[in-house]
Amino acid sequence: MEDFLQVIRDDHHNFDKGILSDHVGNDPLAFFRIWYKEAFDSTQAEPHAMSITTVDELHKPSSRIVYLKELIDEGFVYYTNYASQKGKDLLKNPNSCALFFWNVLERQVRIEGITVKVDEATSDAYFASRPRGSQLGAWASQQSELLESRELLETRLLELNERFPEEVPRPPHWGGYILVPEKIEFWQGRPSRLHDRIVFEKQNDSWAVFRKNP
Ligand SMILES: Cc1cc2nc3c(=O)[nH]c(=O)nc-3n(C[C@H](O)[C@H](O)[C@H](O)COP(=O)(O)O)c2cc1C
Repeated sequence: MEDFLQVIRDDHHNFDKGILSDHVGNDPLAFFRIWYKEAFDSTQAEPHAMSITTVDELHKPSSRIVYLKELIDEGFVYYTNYASQKGKDLLKNPNSCALFFWNVLERQVRIEGITVKVDEATSDAYFASRPRGSQLGAWASQQSELLESRELLETRLLELNERFPEEVPRPPHWGGYILVPEKIEFWQGRPSRLHDRIVFEKQNDSWAVFRKNP
């Protein structure tokens, strides 16, 4: 174990896969789309997995991975259980932060903003597109609540399968959120720890762009 930790301590990764020039334009979502596509075109596993951080009523933060499902003009869309821990947090405090790490490209993107729900019709349409098993799972799981046993979950699934023999309606507690960005930072690893960091910050209706020290 000690040897293993020593190896980690001695690993000084050399970041040399790219540069982030000042020519990023003035629309961070357009620039994000370019990086997102490059992540999908690379060997990066699960480029759509992002960490979402929320803050509870005692100001304690928590993070978890969710999948980015849509990128729309307003922002970054993901789907979850509105009654989950993150849902409860967002109800009290809509501030949240998303983080992508695309290690293959040595890139990180941090998105800070306010979270709003997508409209019901959009959630309905996305729910309807999911496989039946996932649809039933959304009903079966009281996400983030204590679960007495695994068997209980399996039993609920069997019952739900009978309750909804054909179409499965969207549970009222399940749907999408949009993280509406107010600040987006793009990070590109560079040699000698002199990484590139370009930040877009919303000012009134337009975006200010600046570079930060690494
Ligand atoms: C790769 C991966 C993808 C995930 N995608 C989602 C997702 O899209 N929506 C979701 O609600 N949970 C997703 N989860 C589960 C969440 O990380 C988390 O456990 C769950 O949402 C409950 O979080 P909460 O109790 O903090 O609200 C995913 C987990 C992993 C590891």
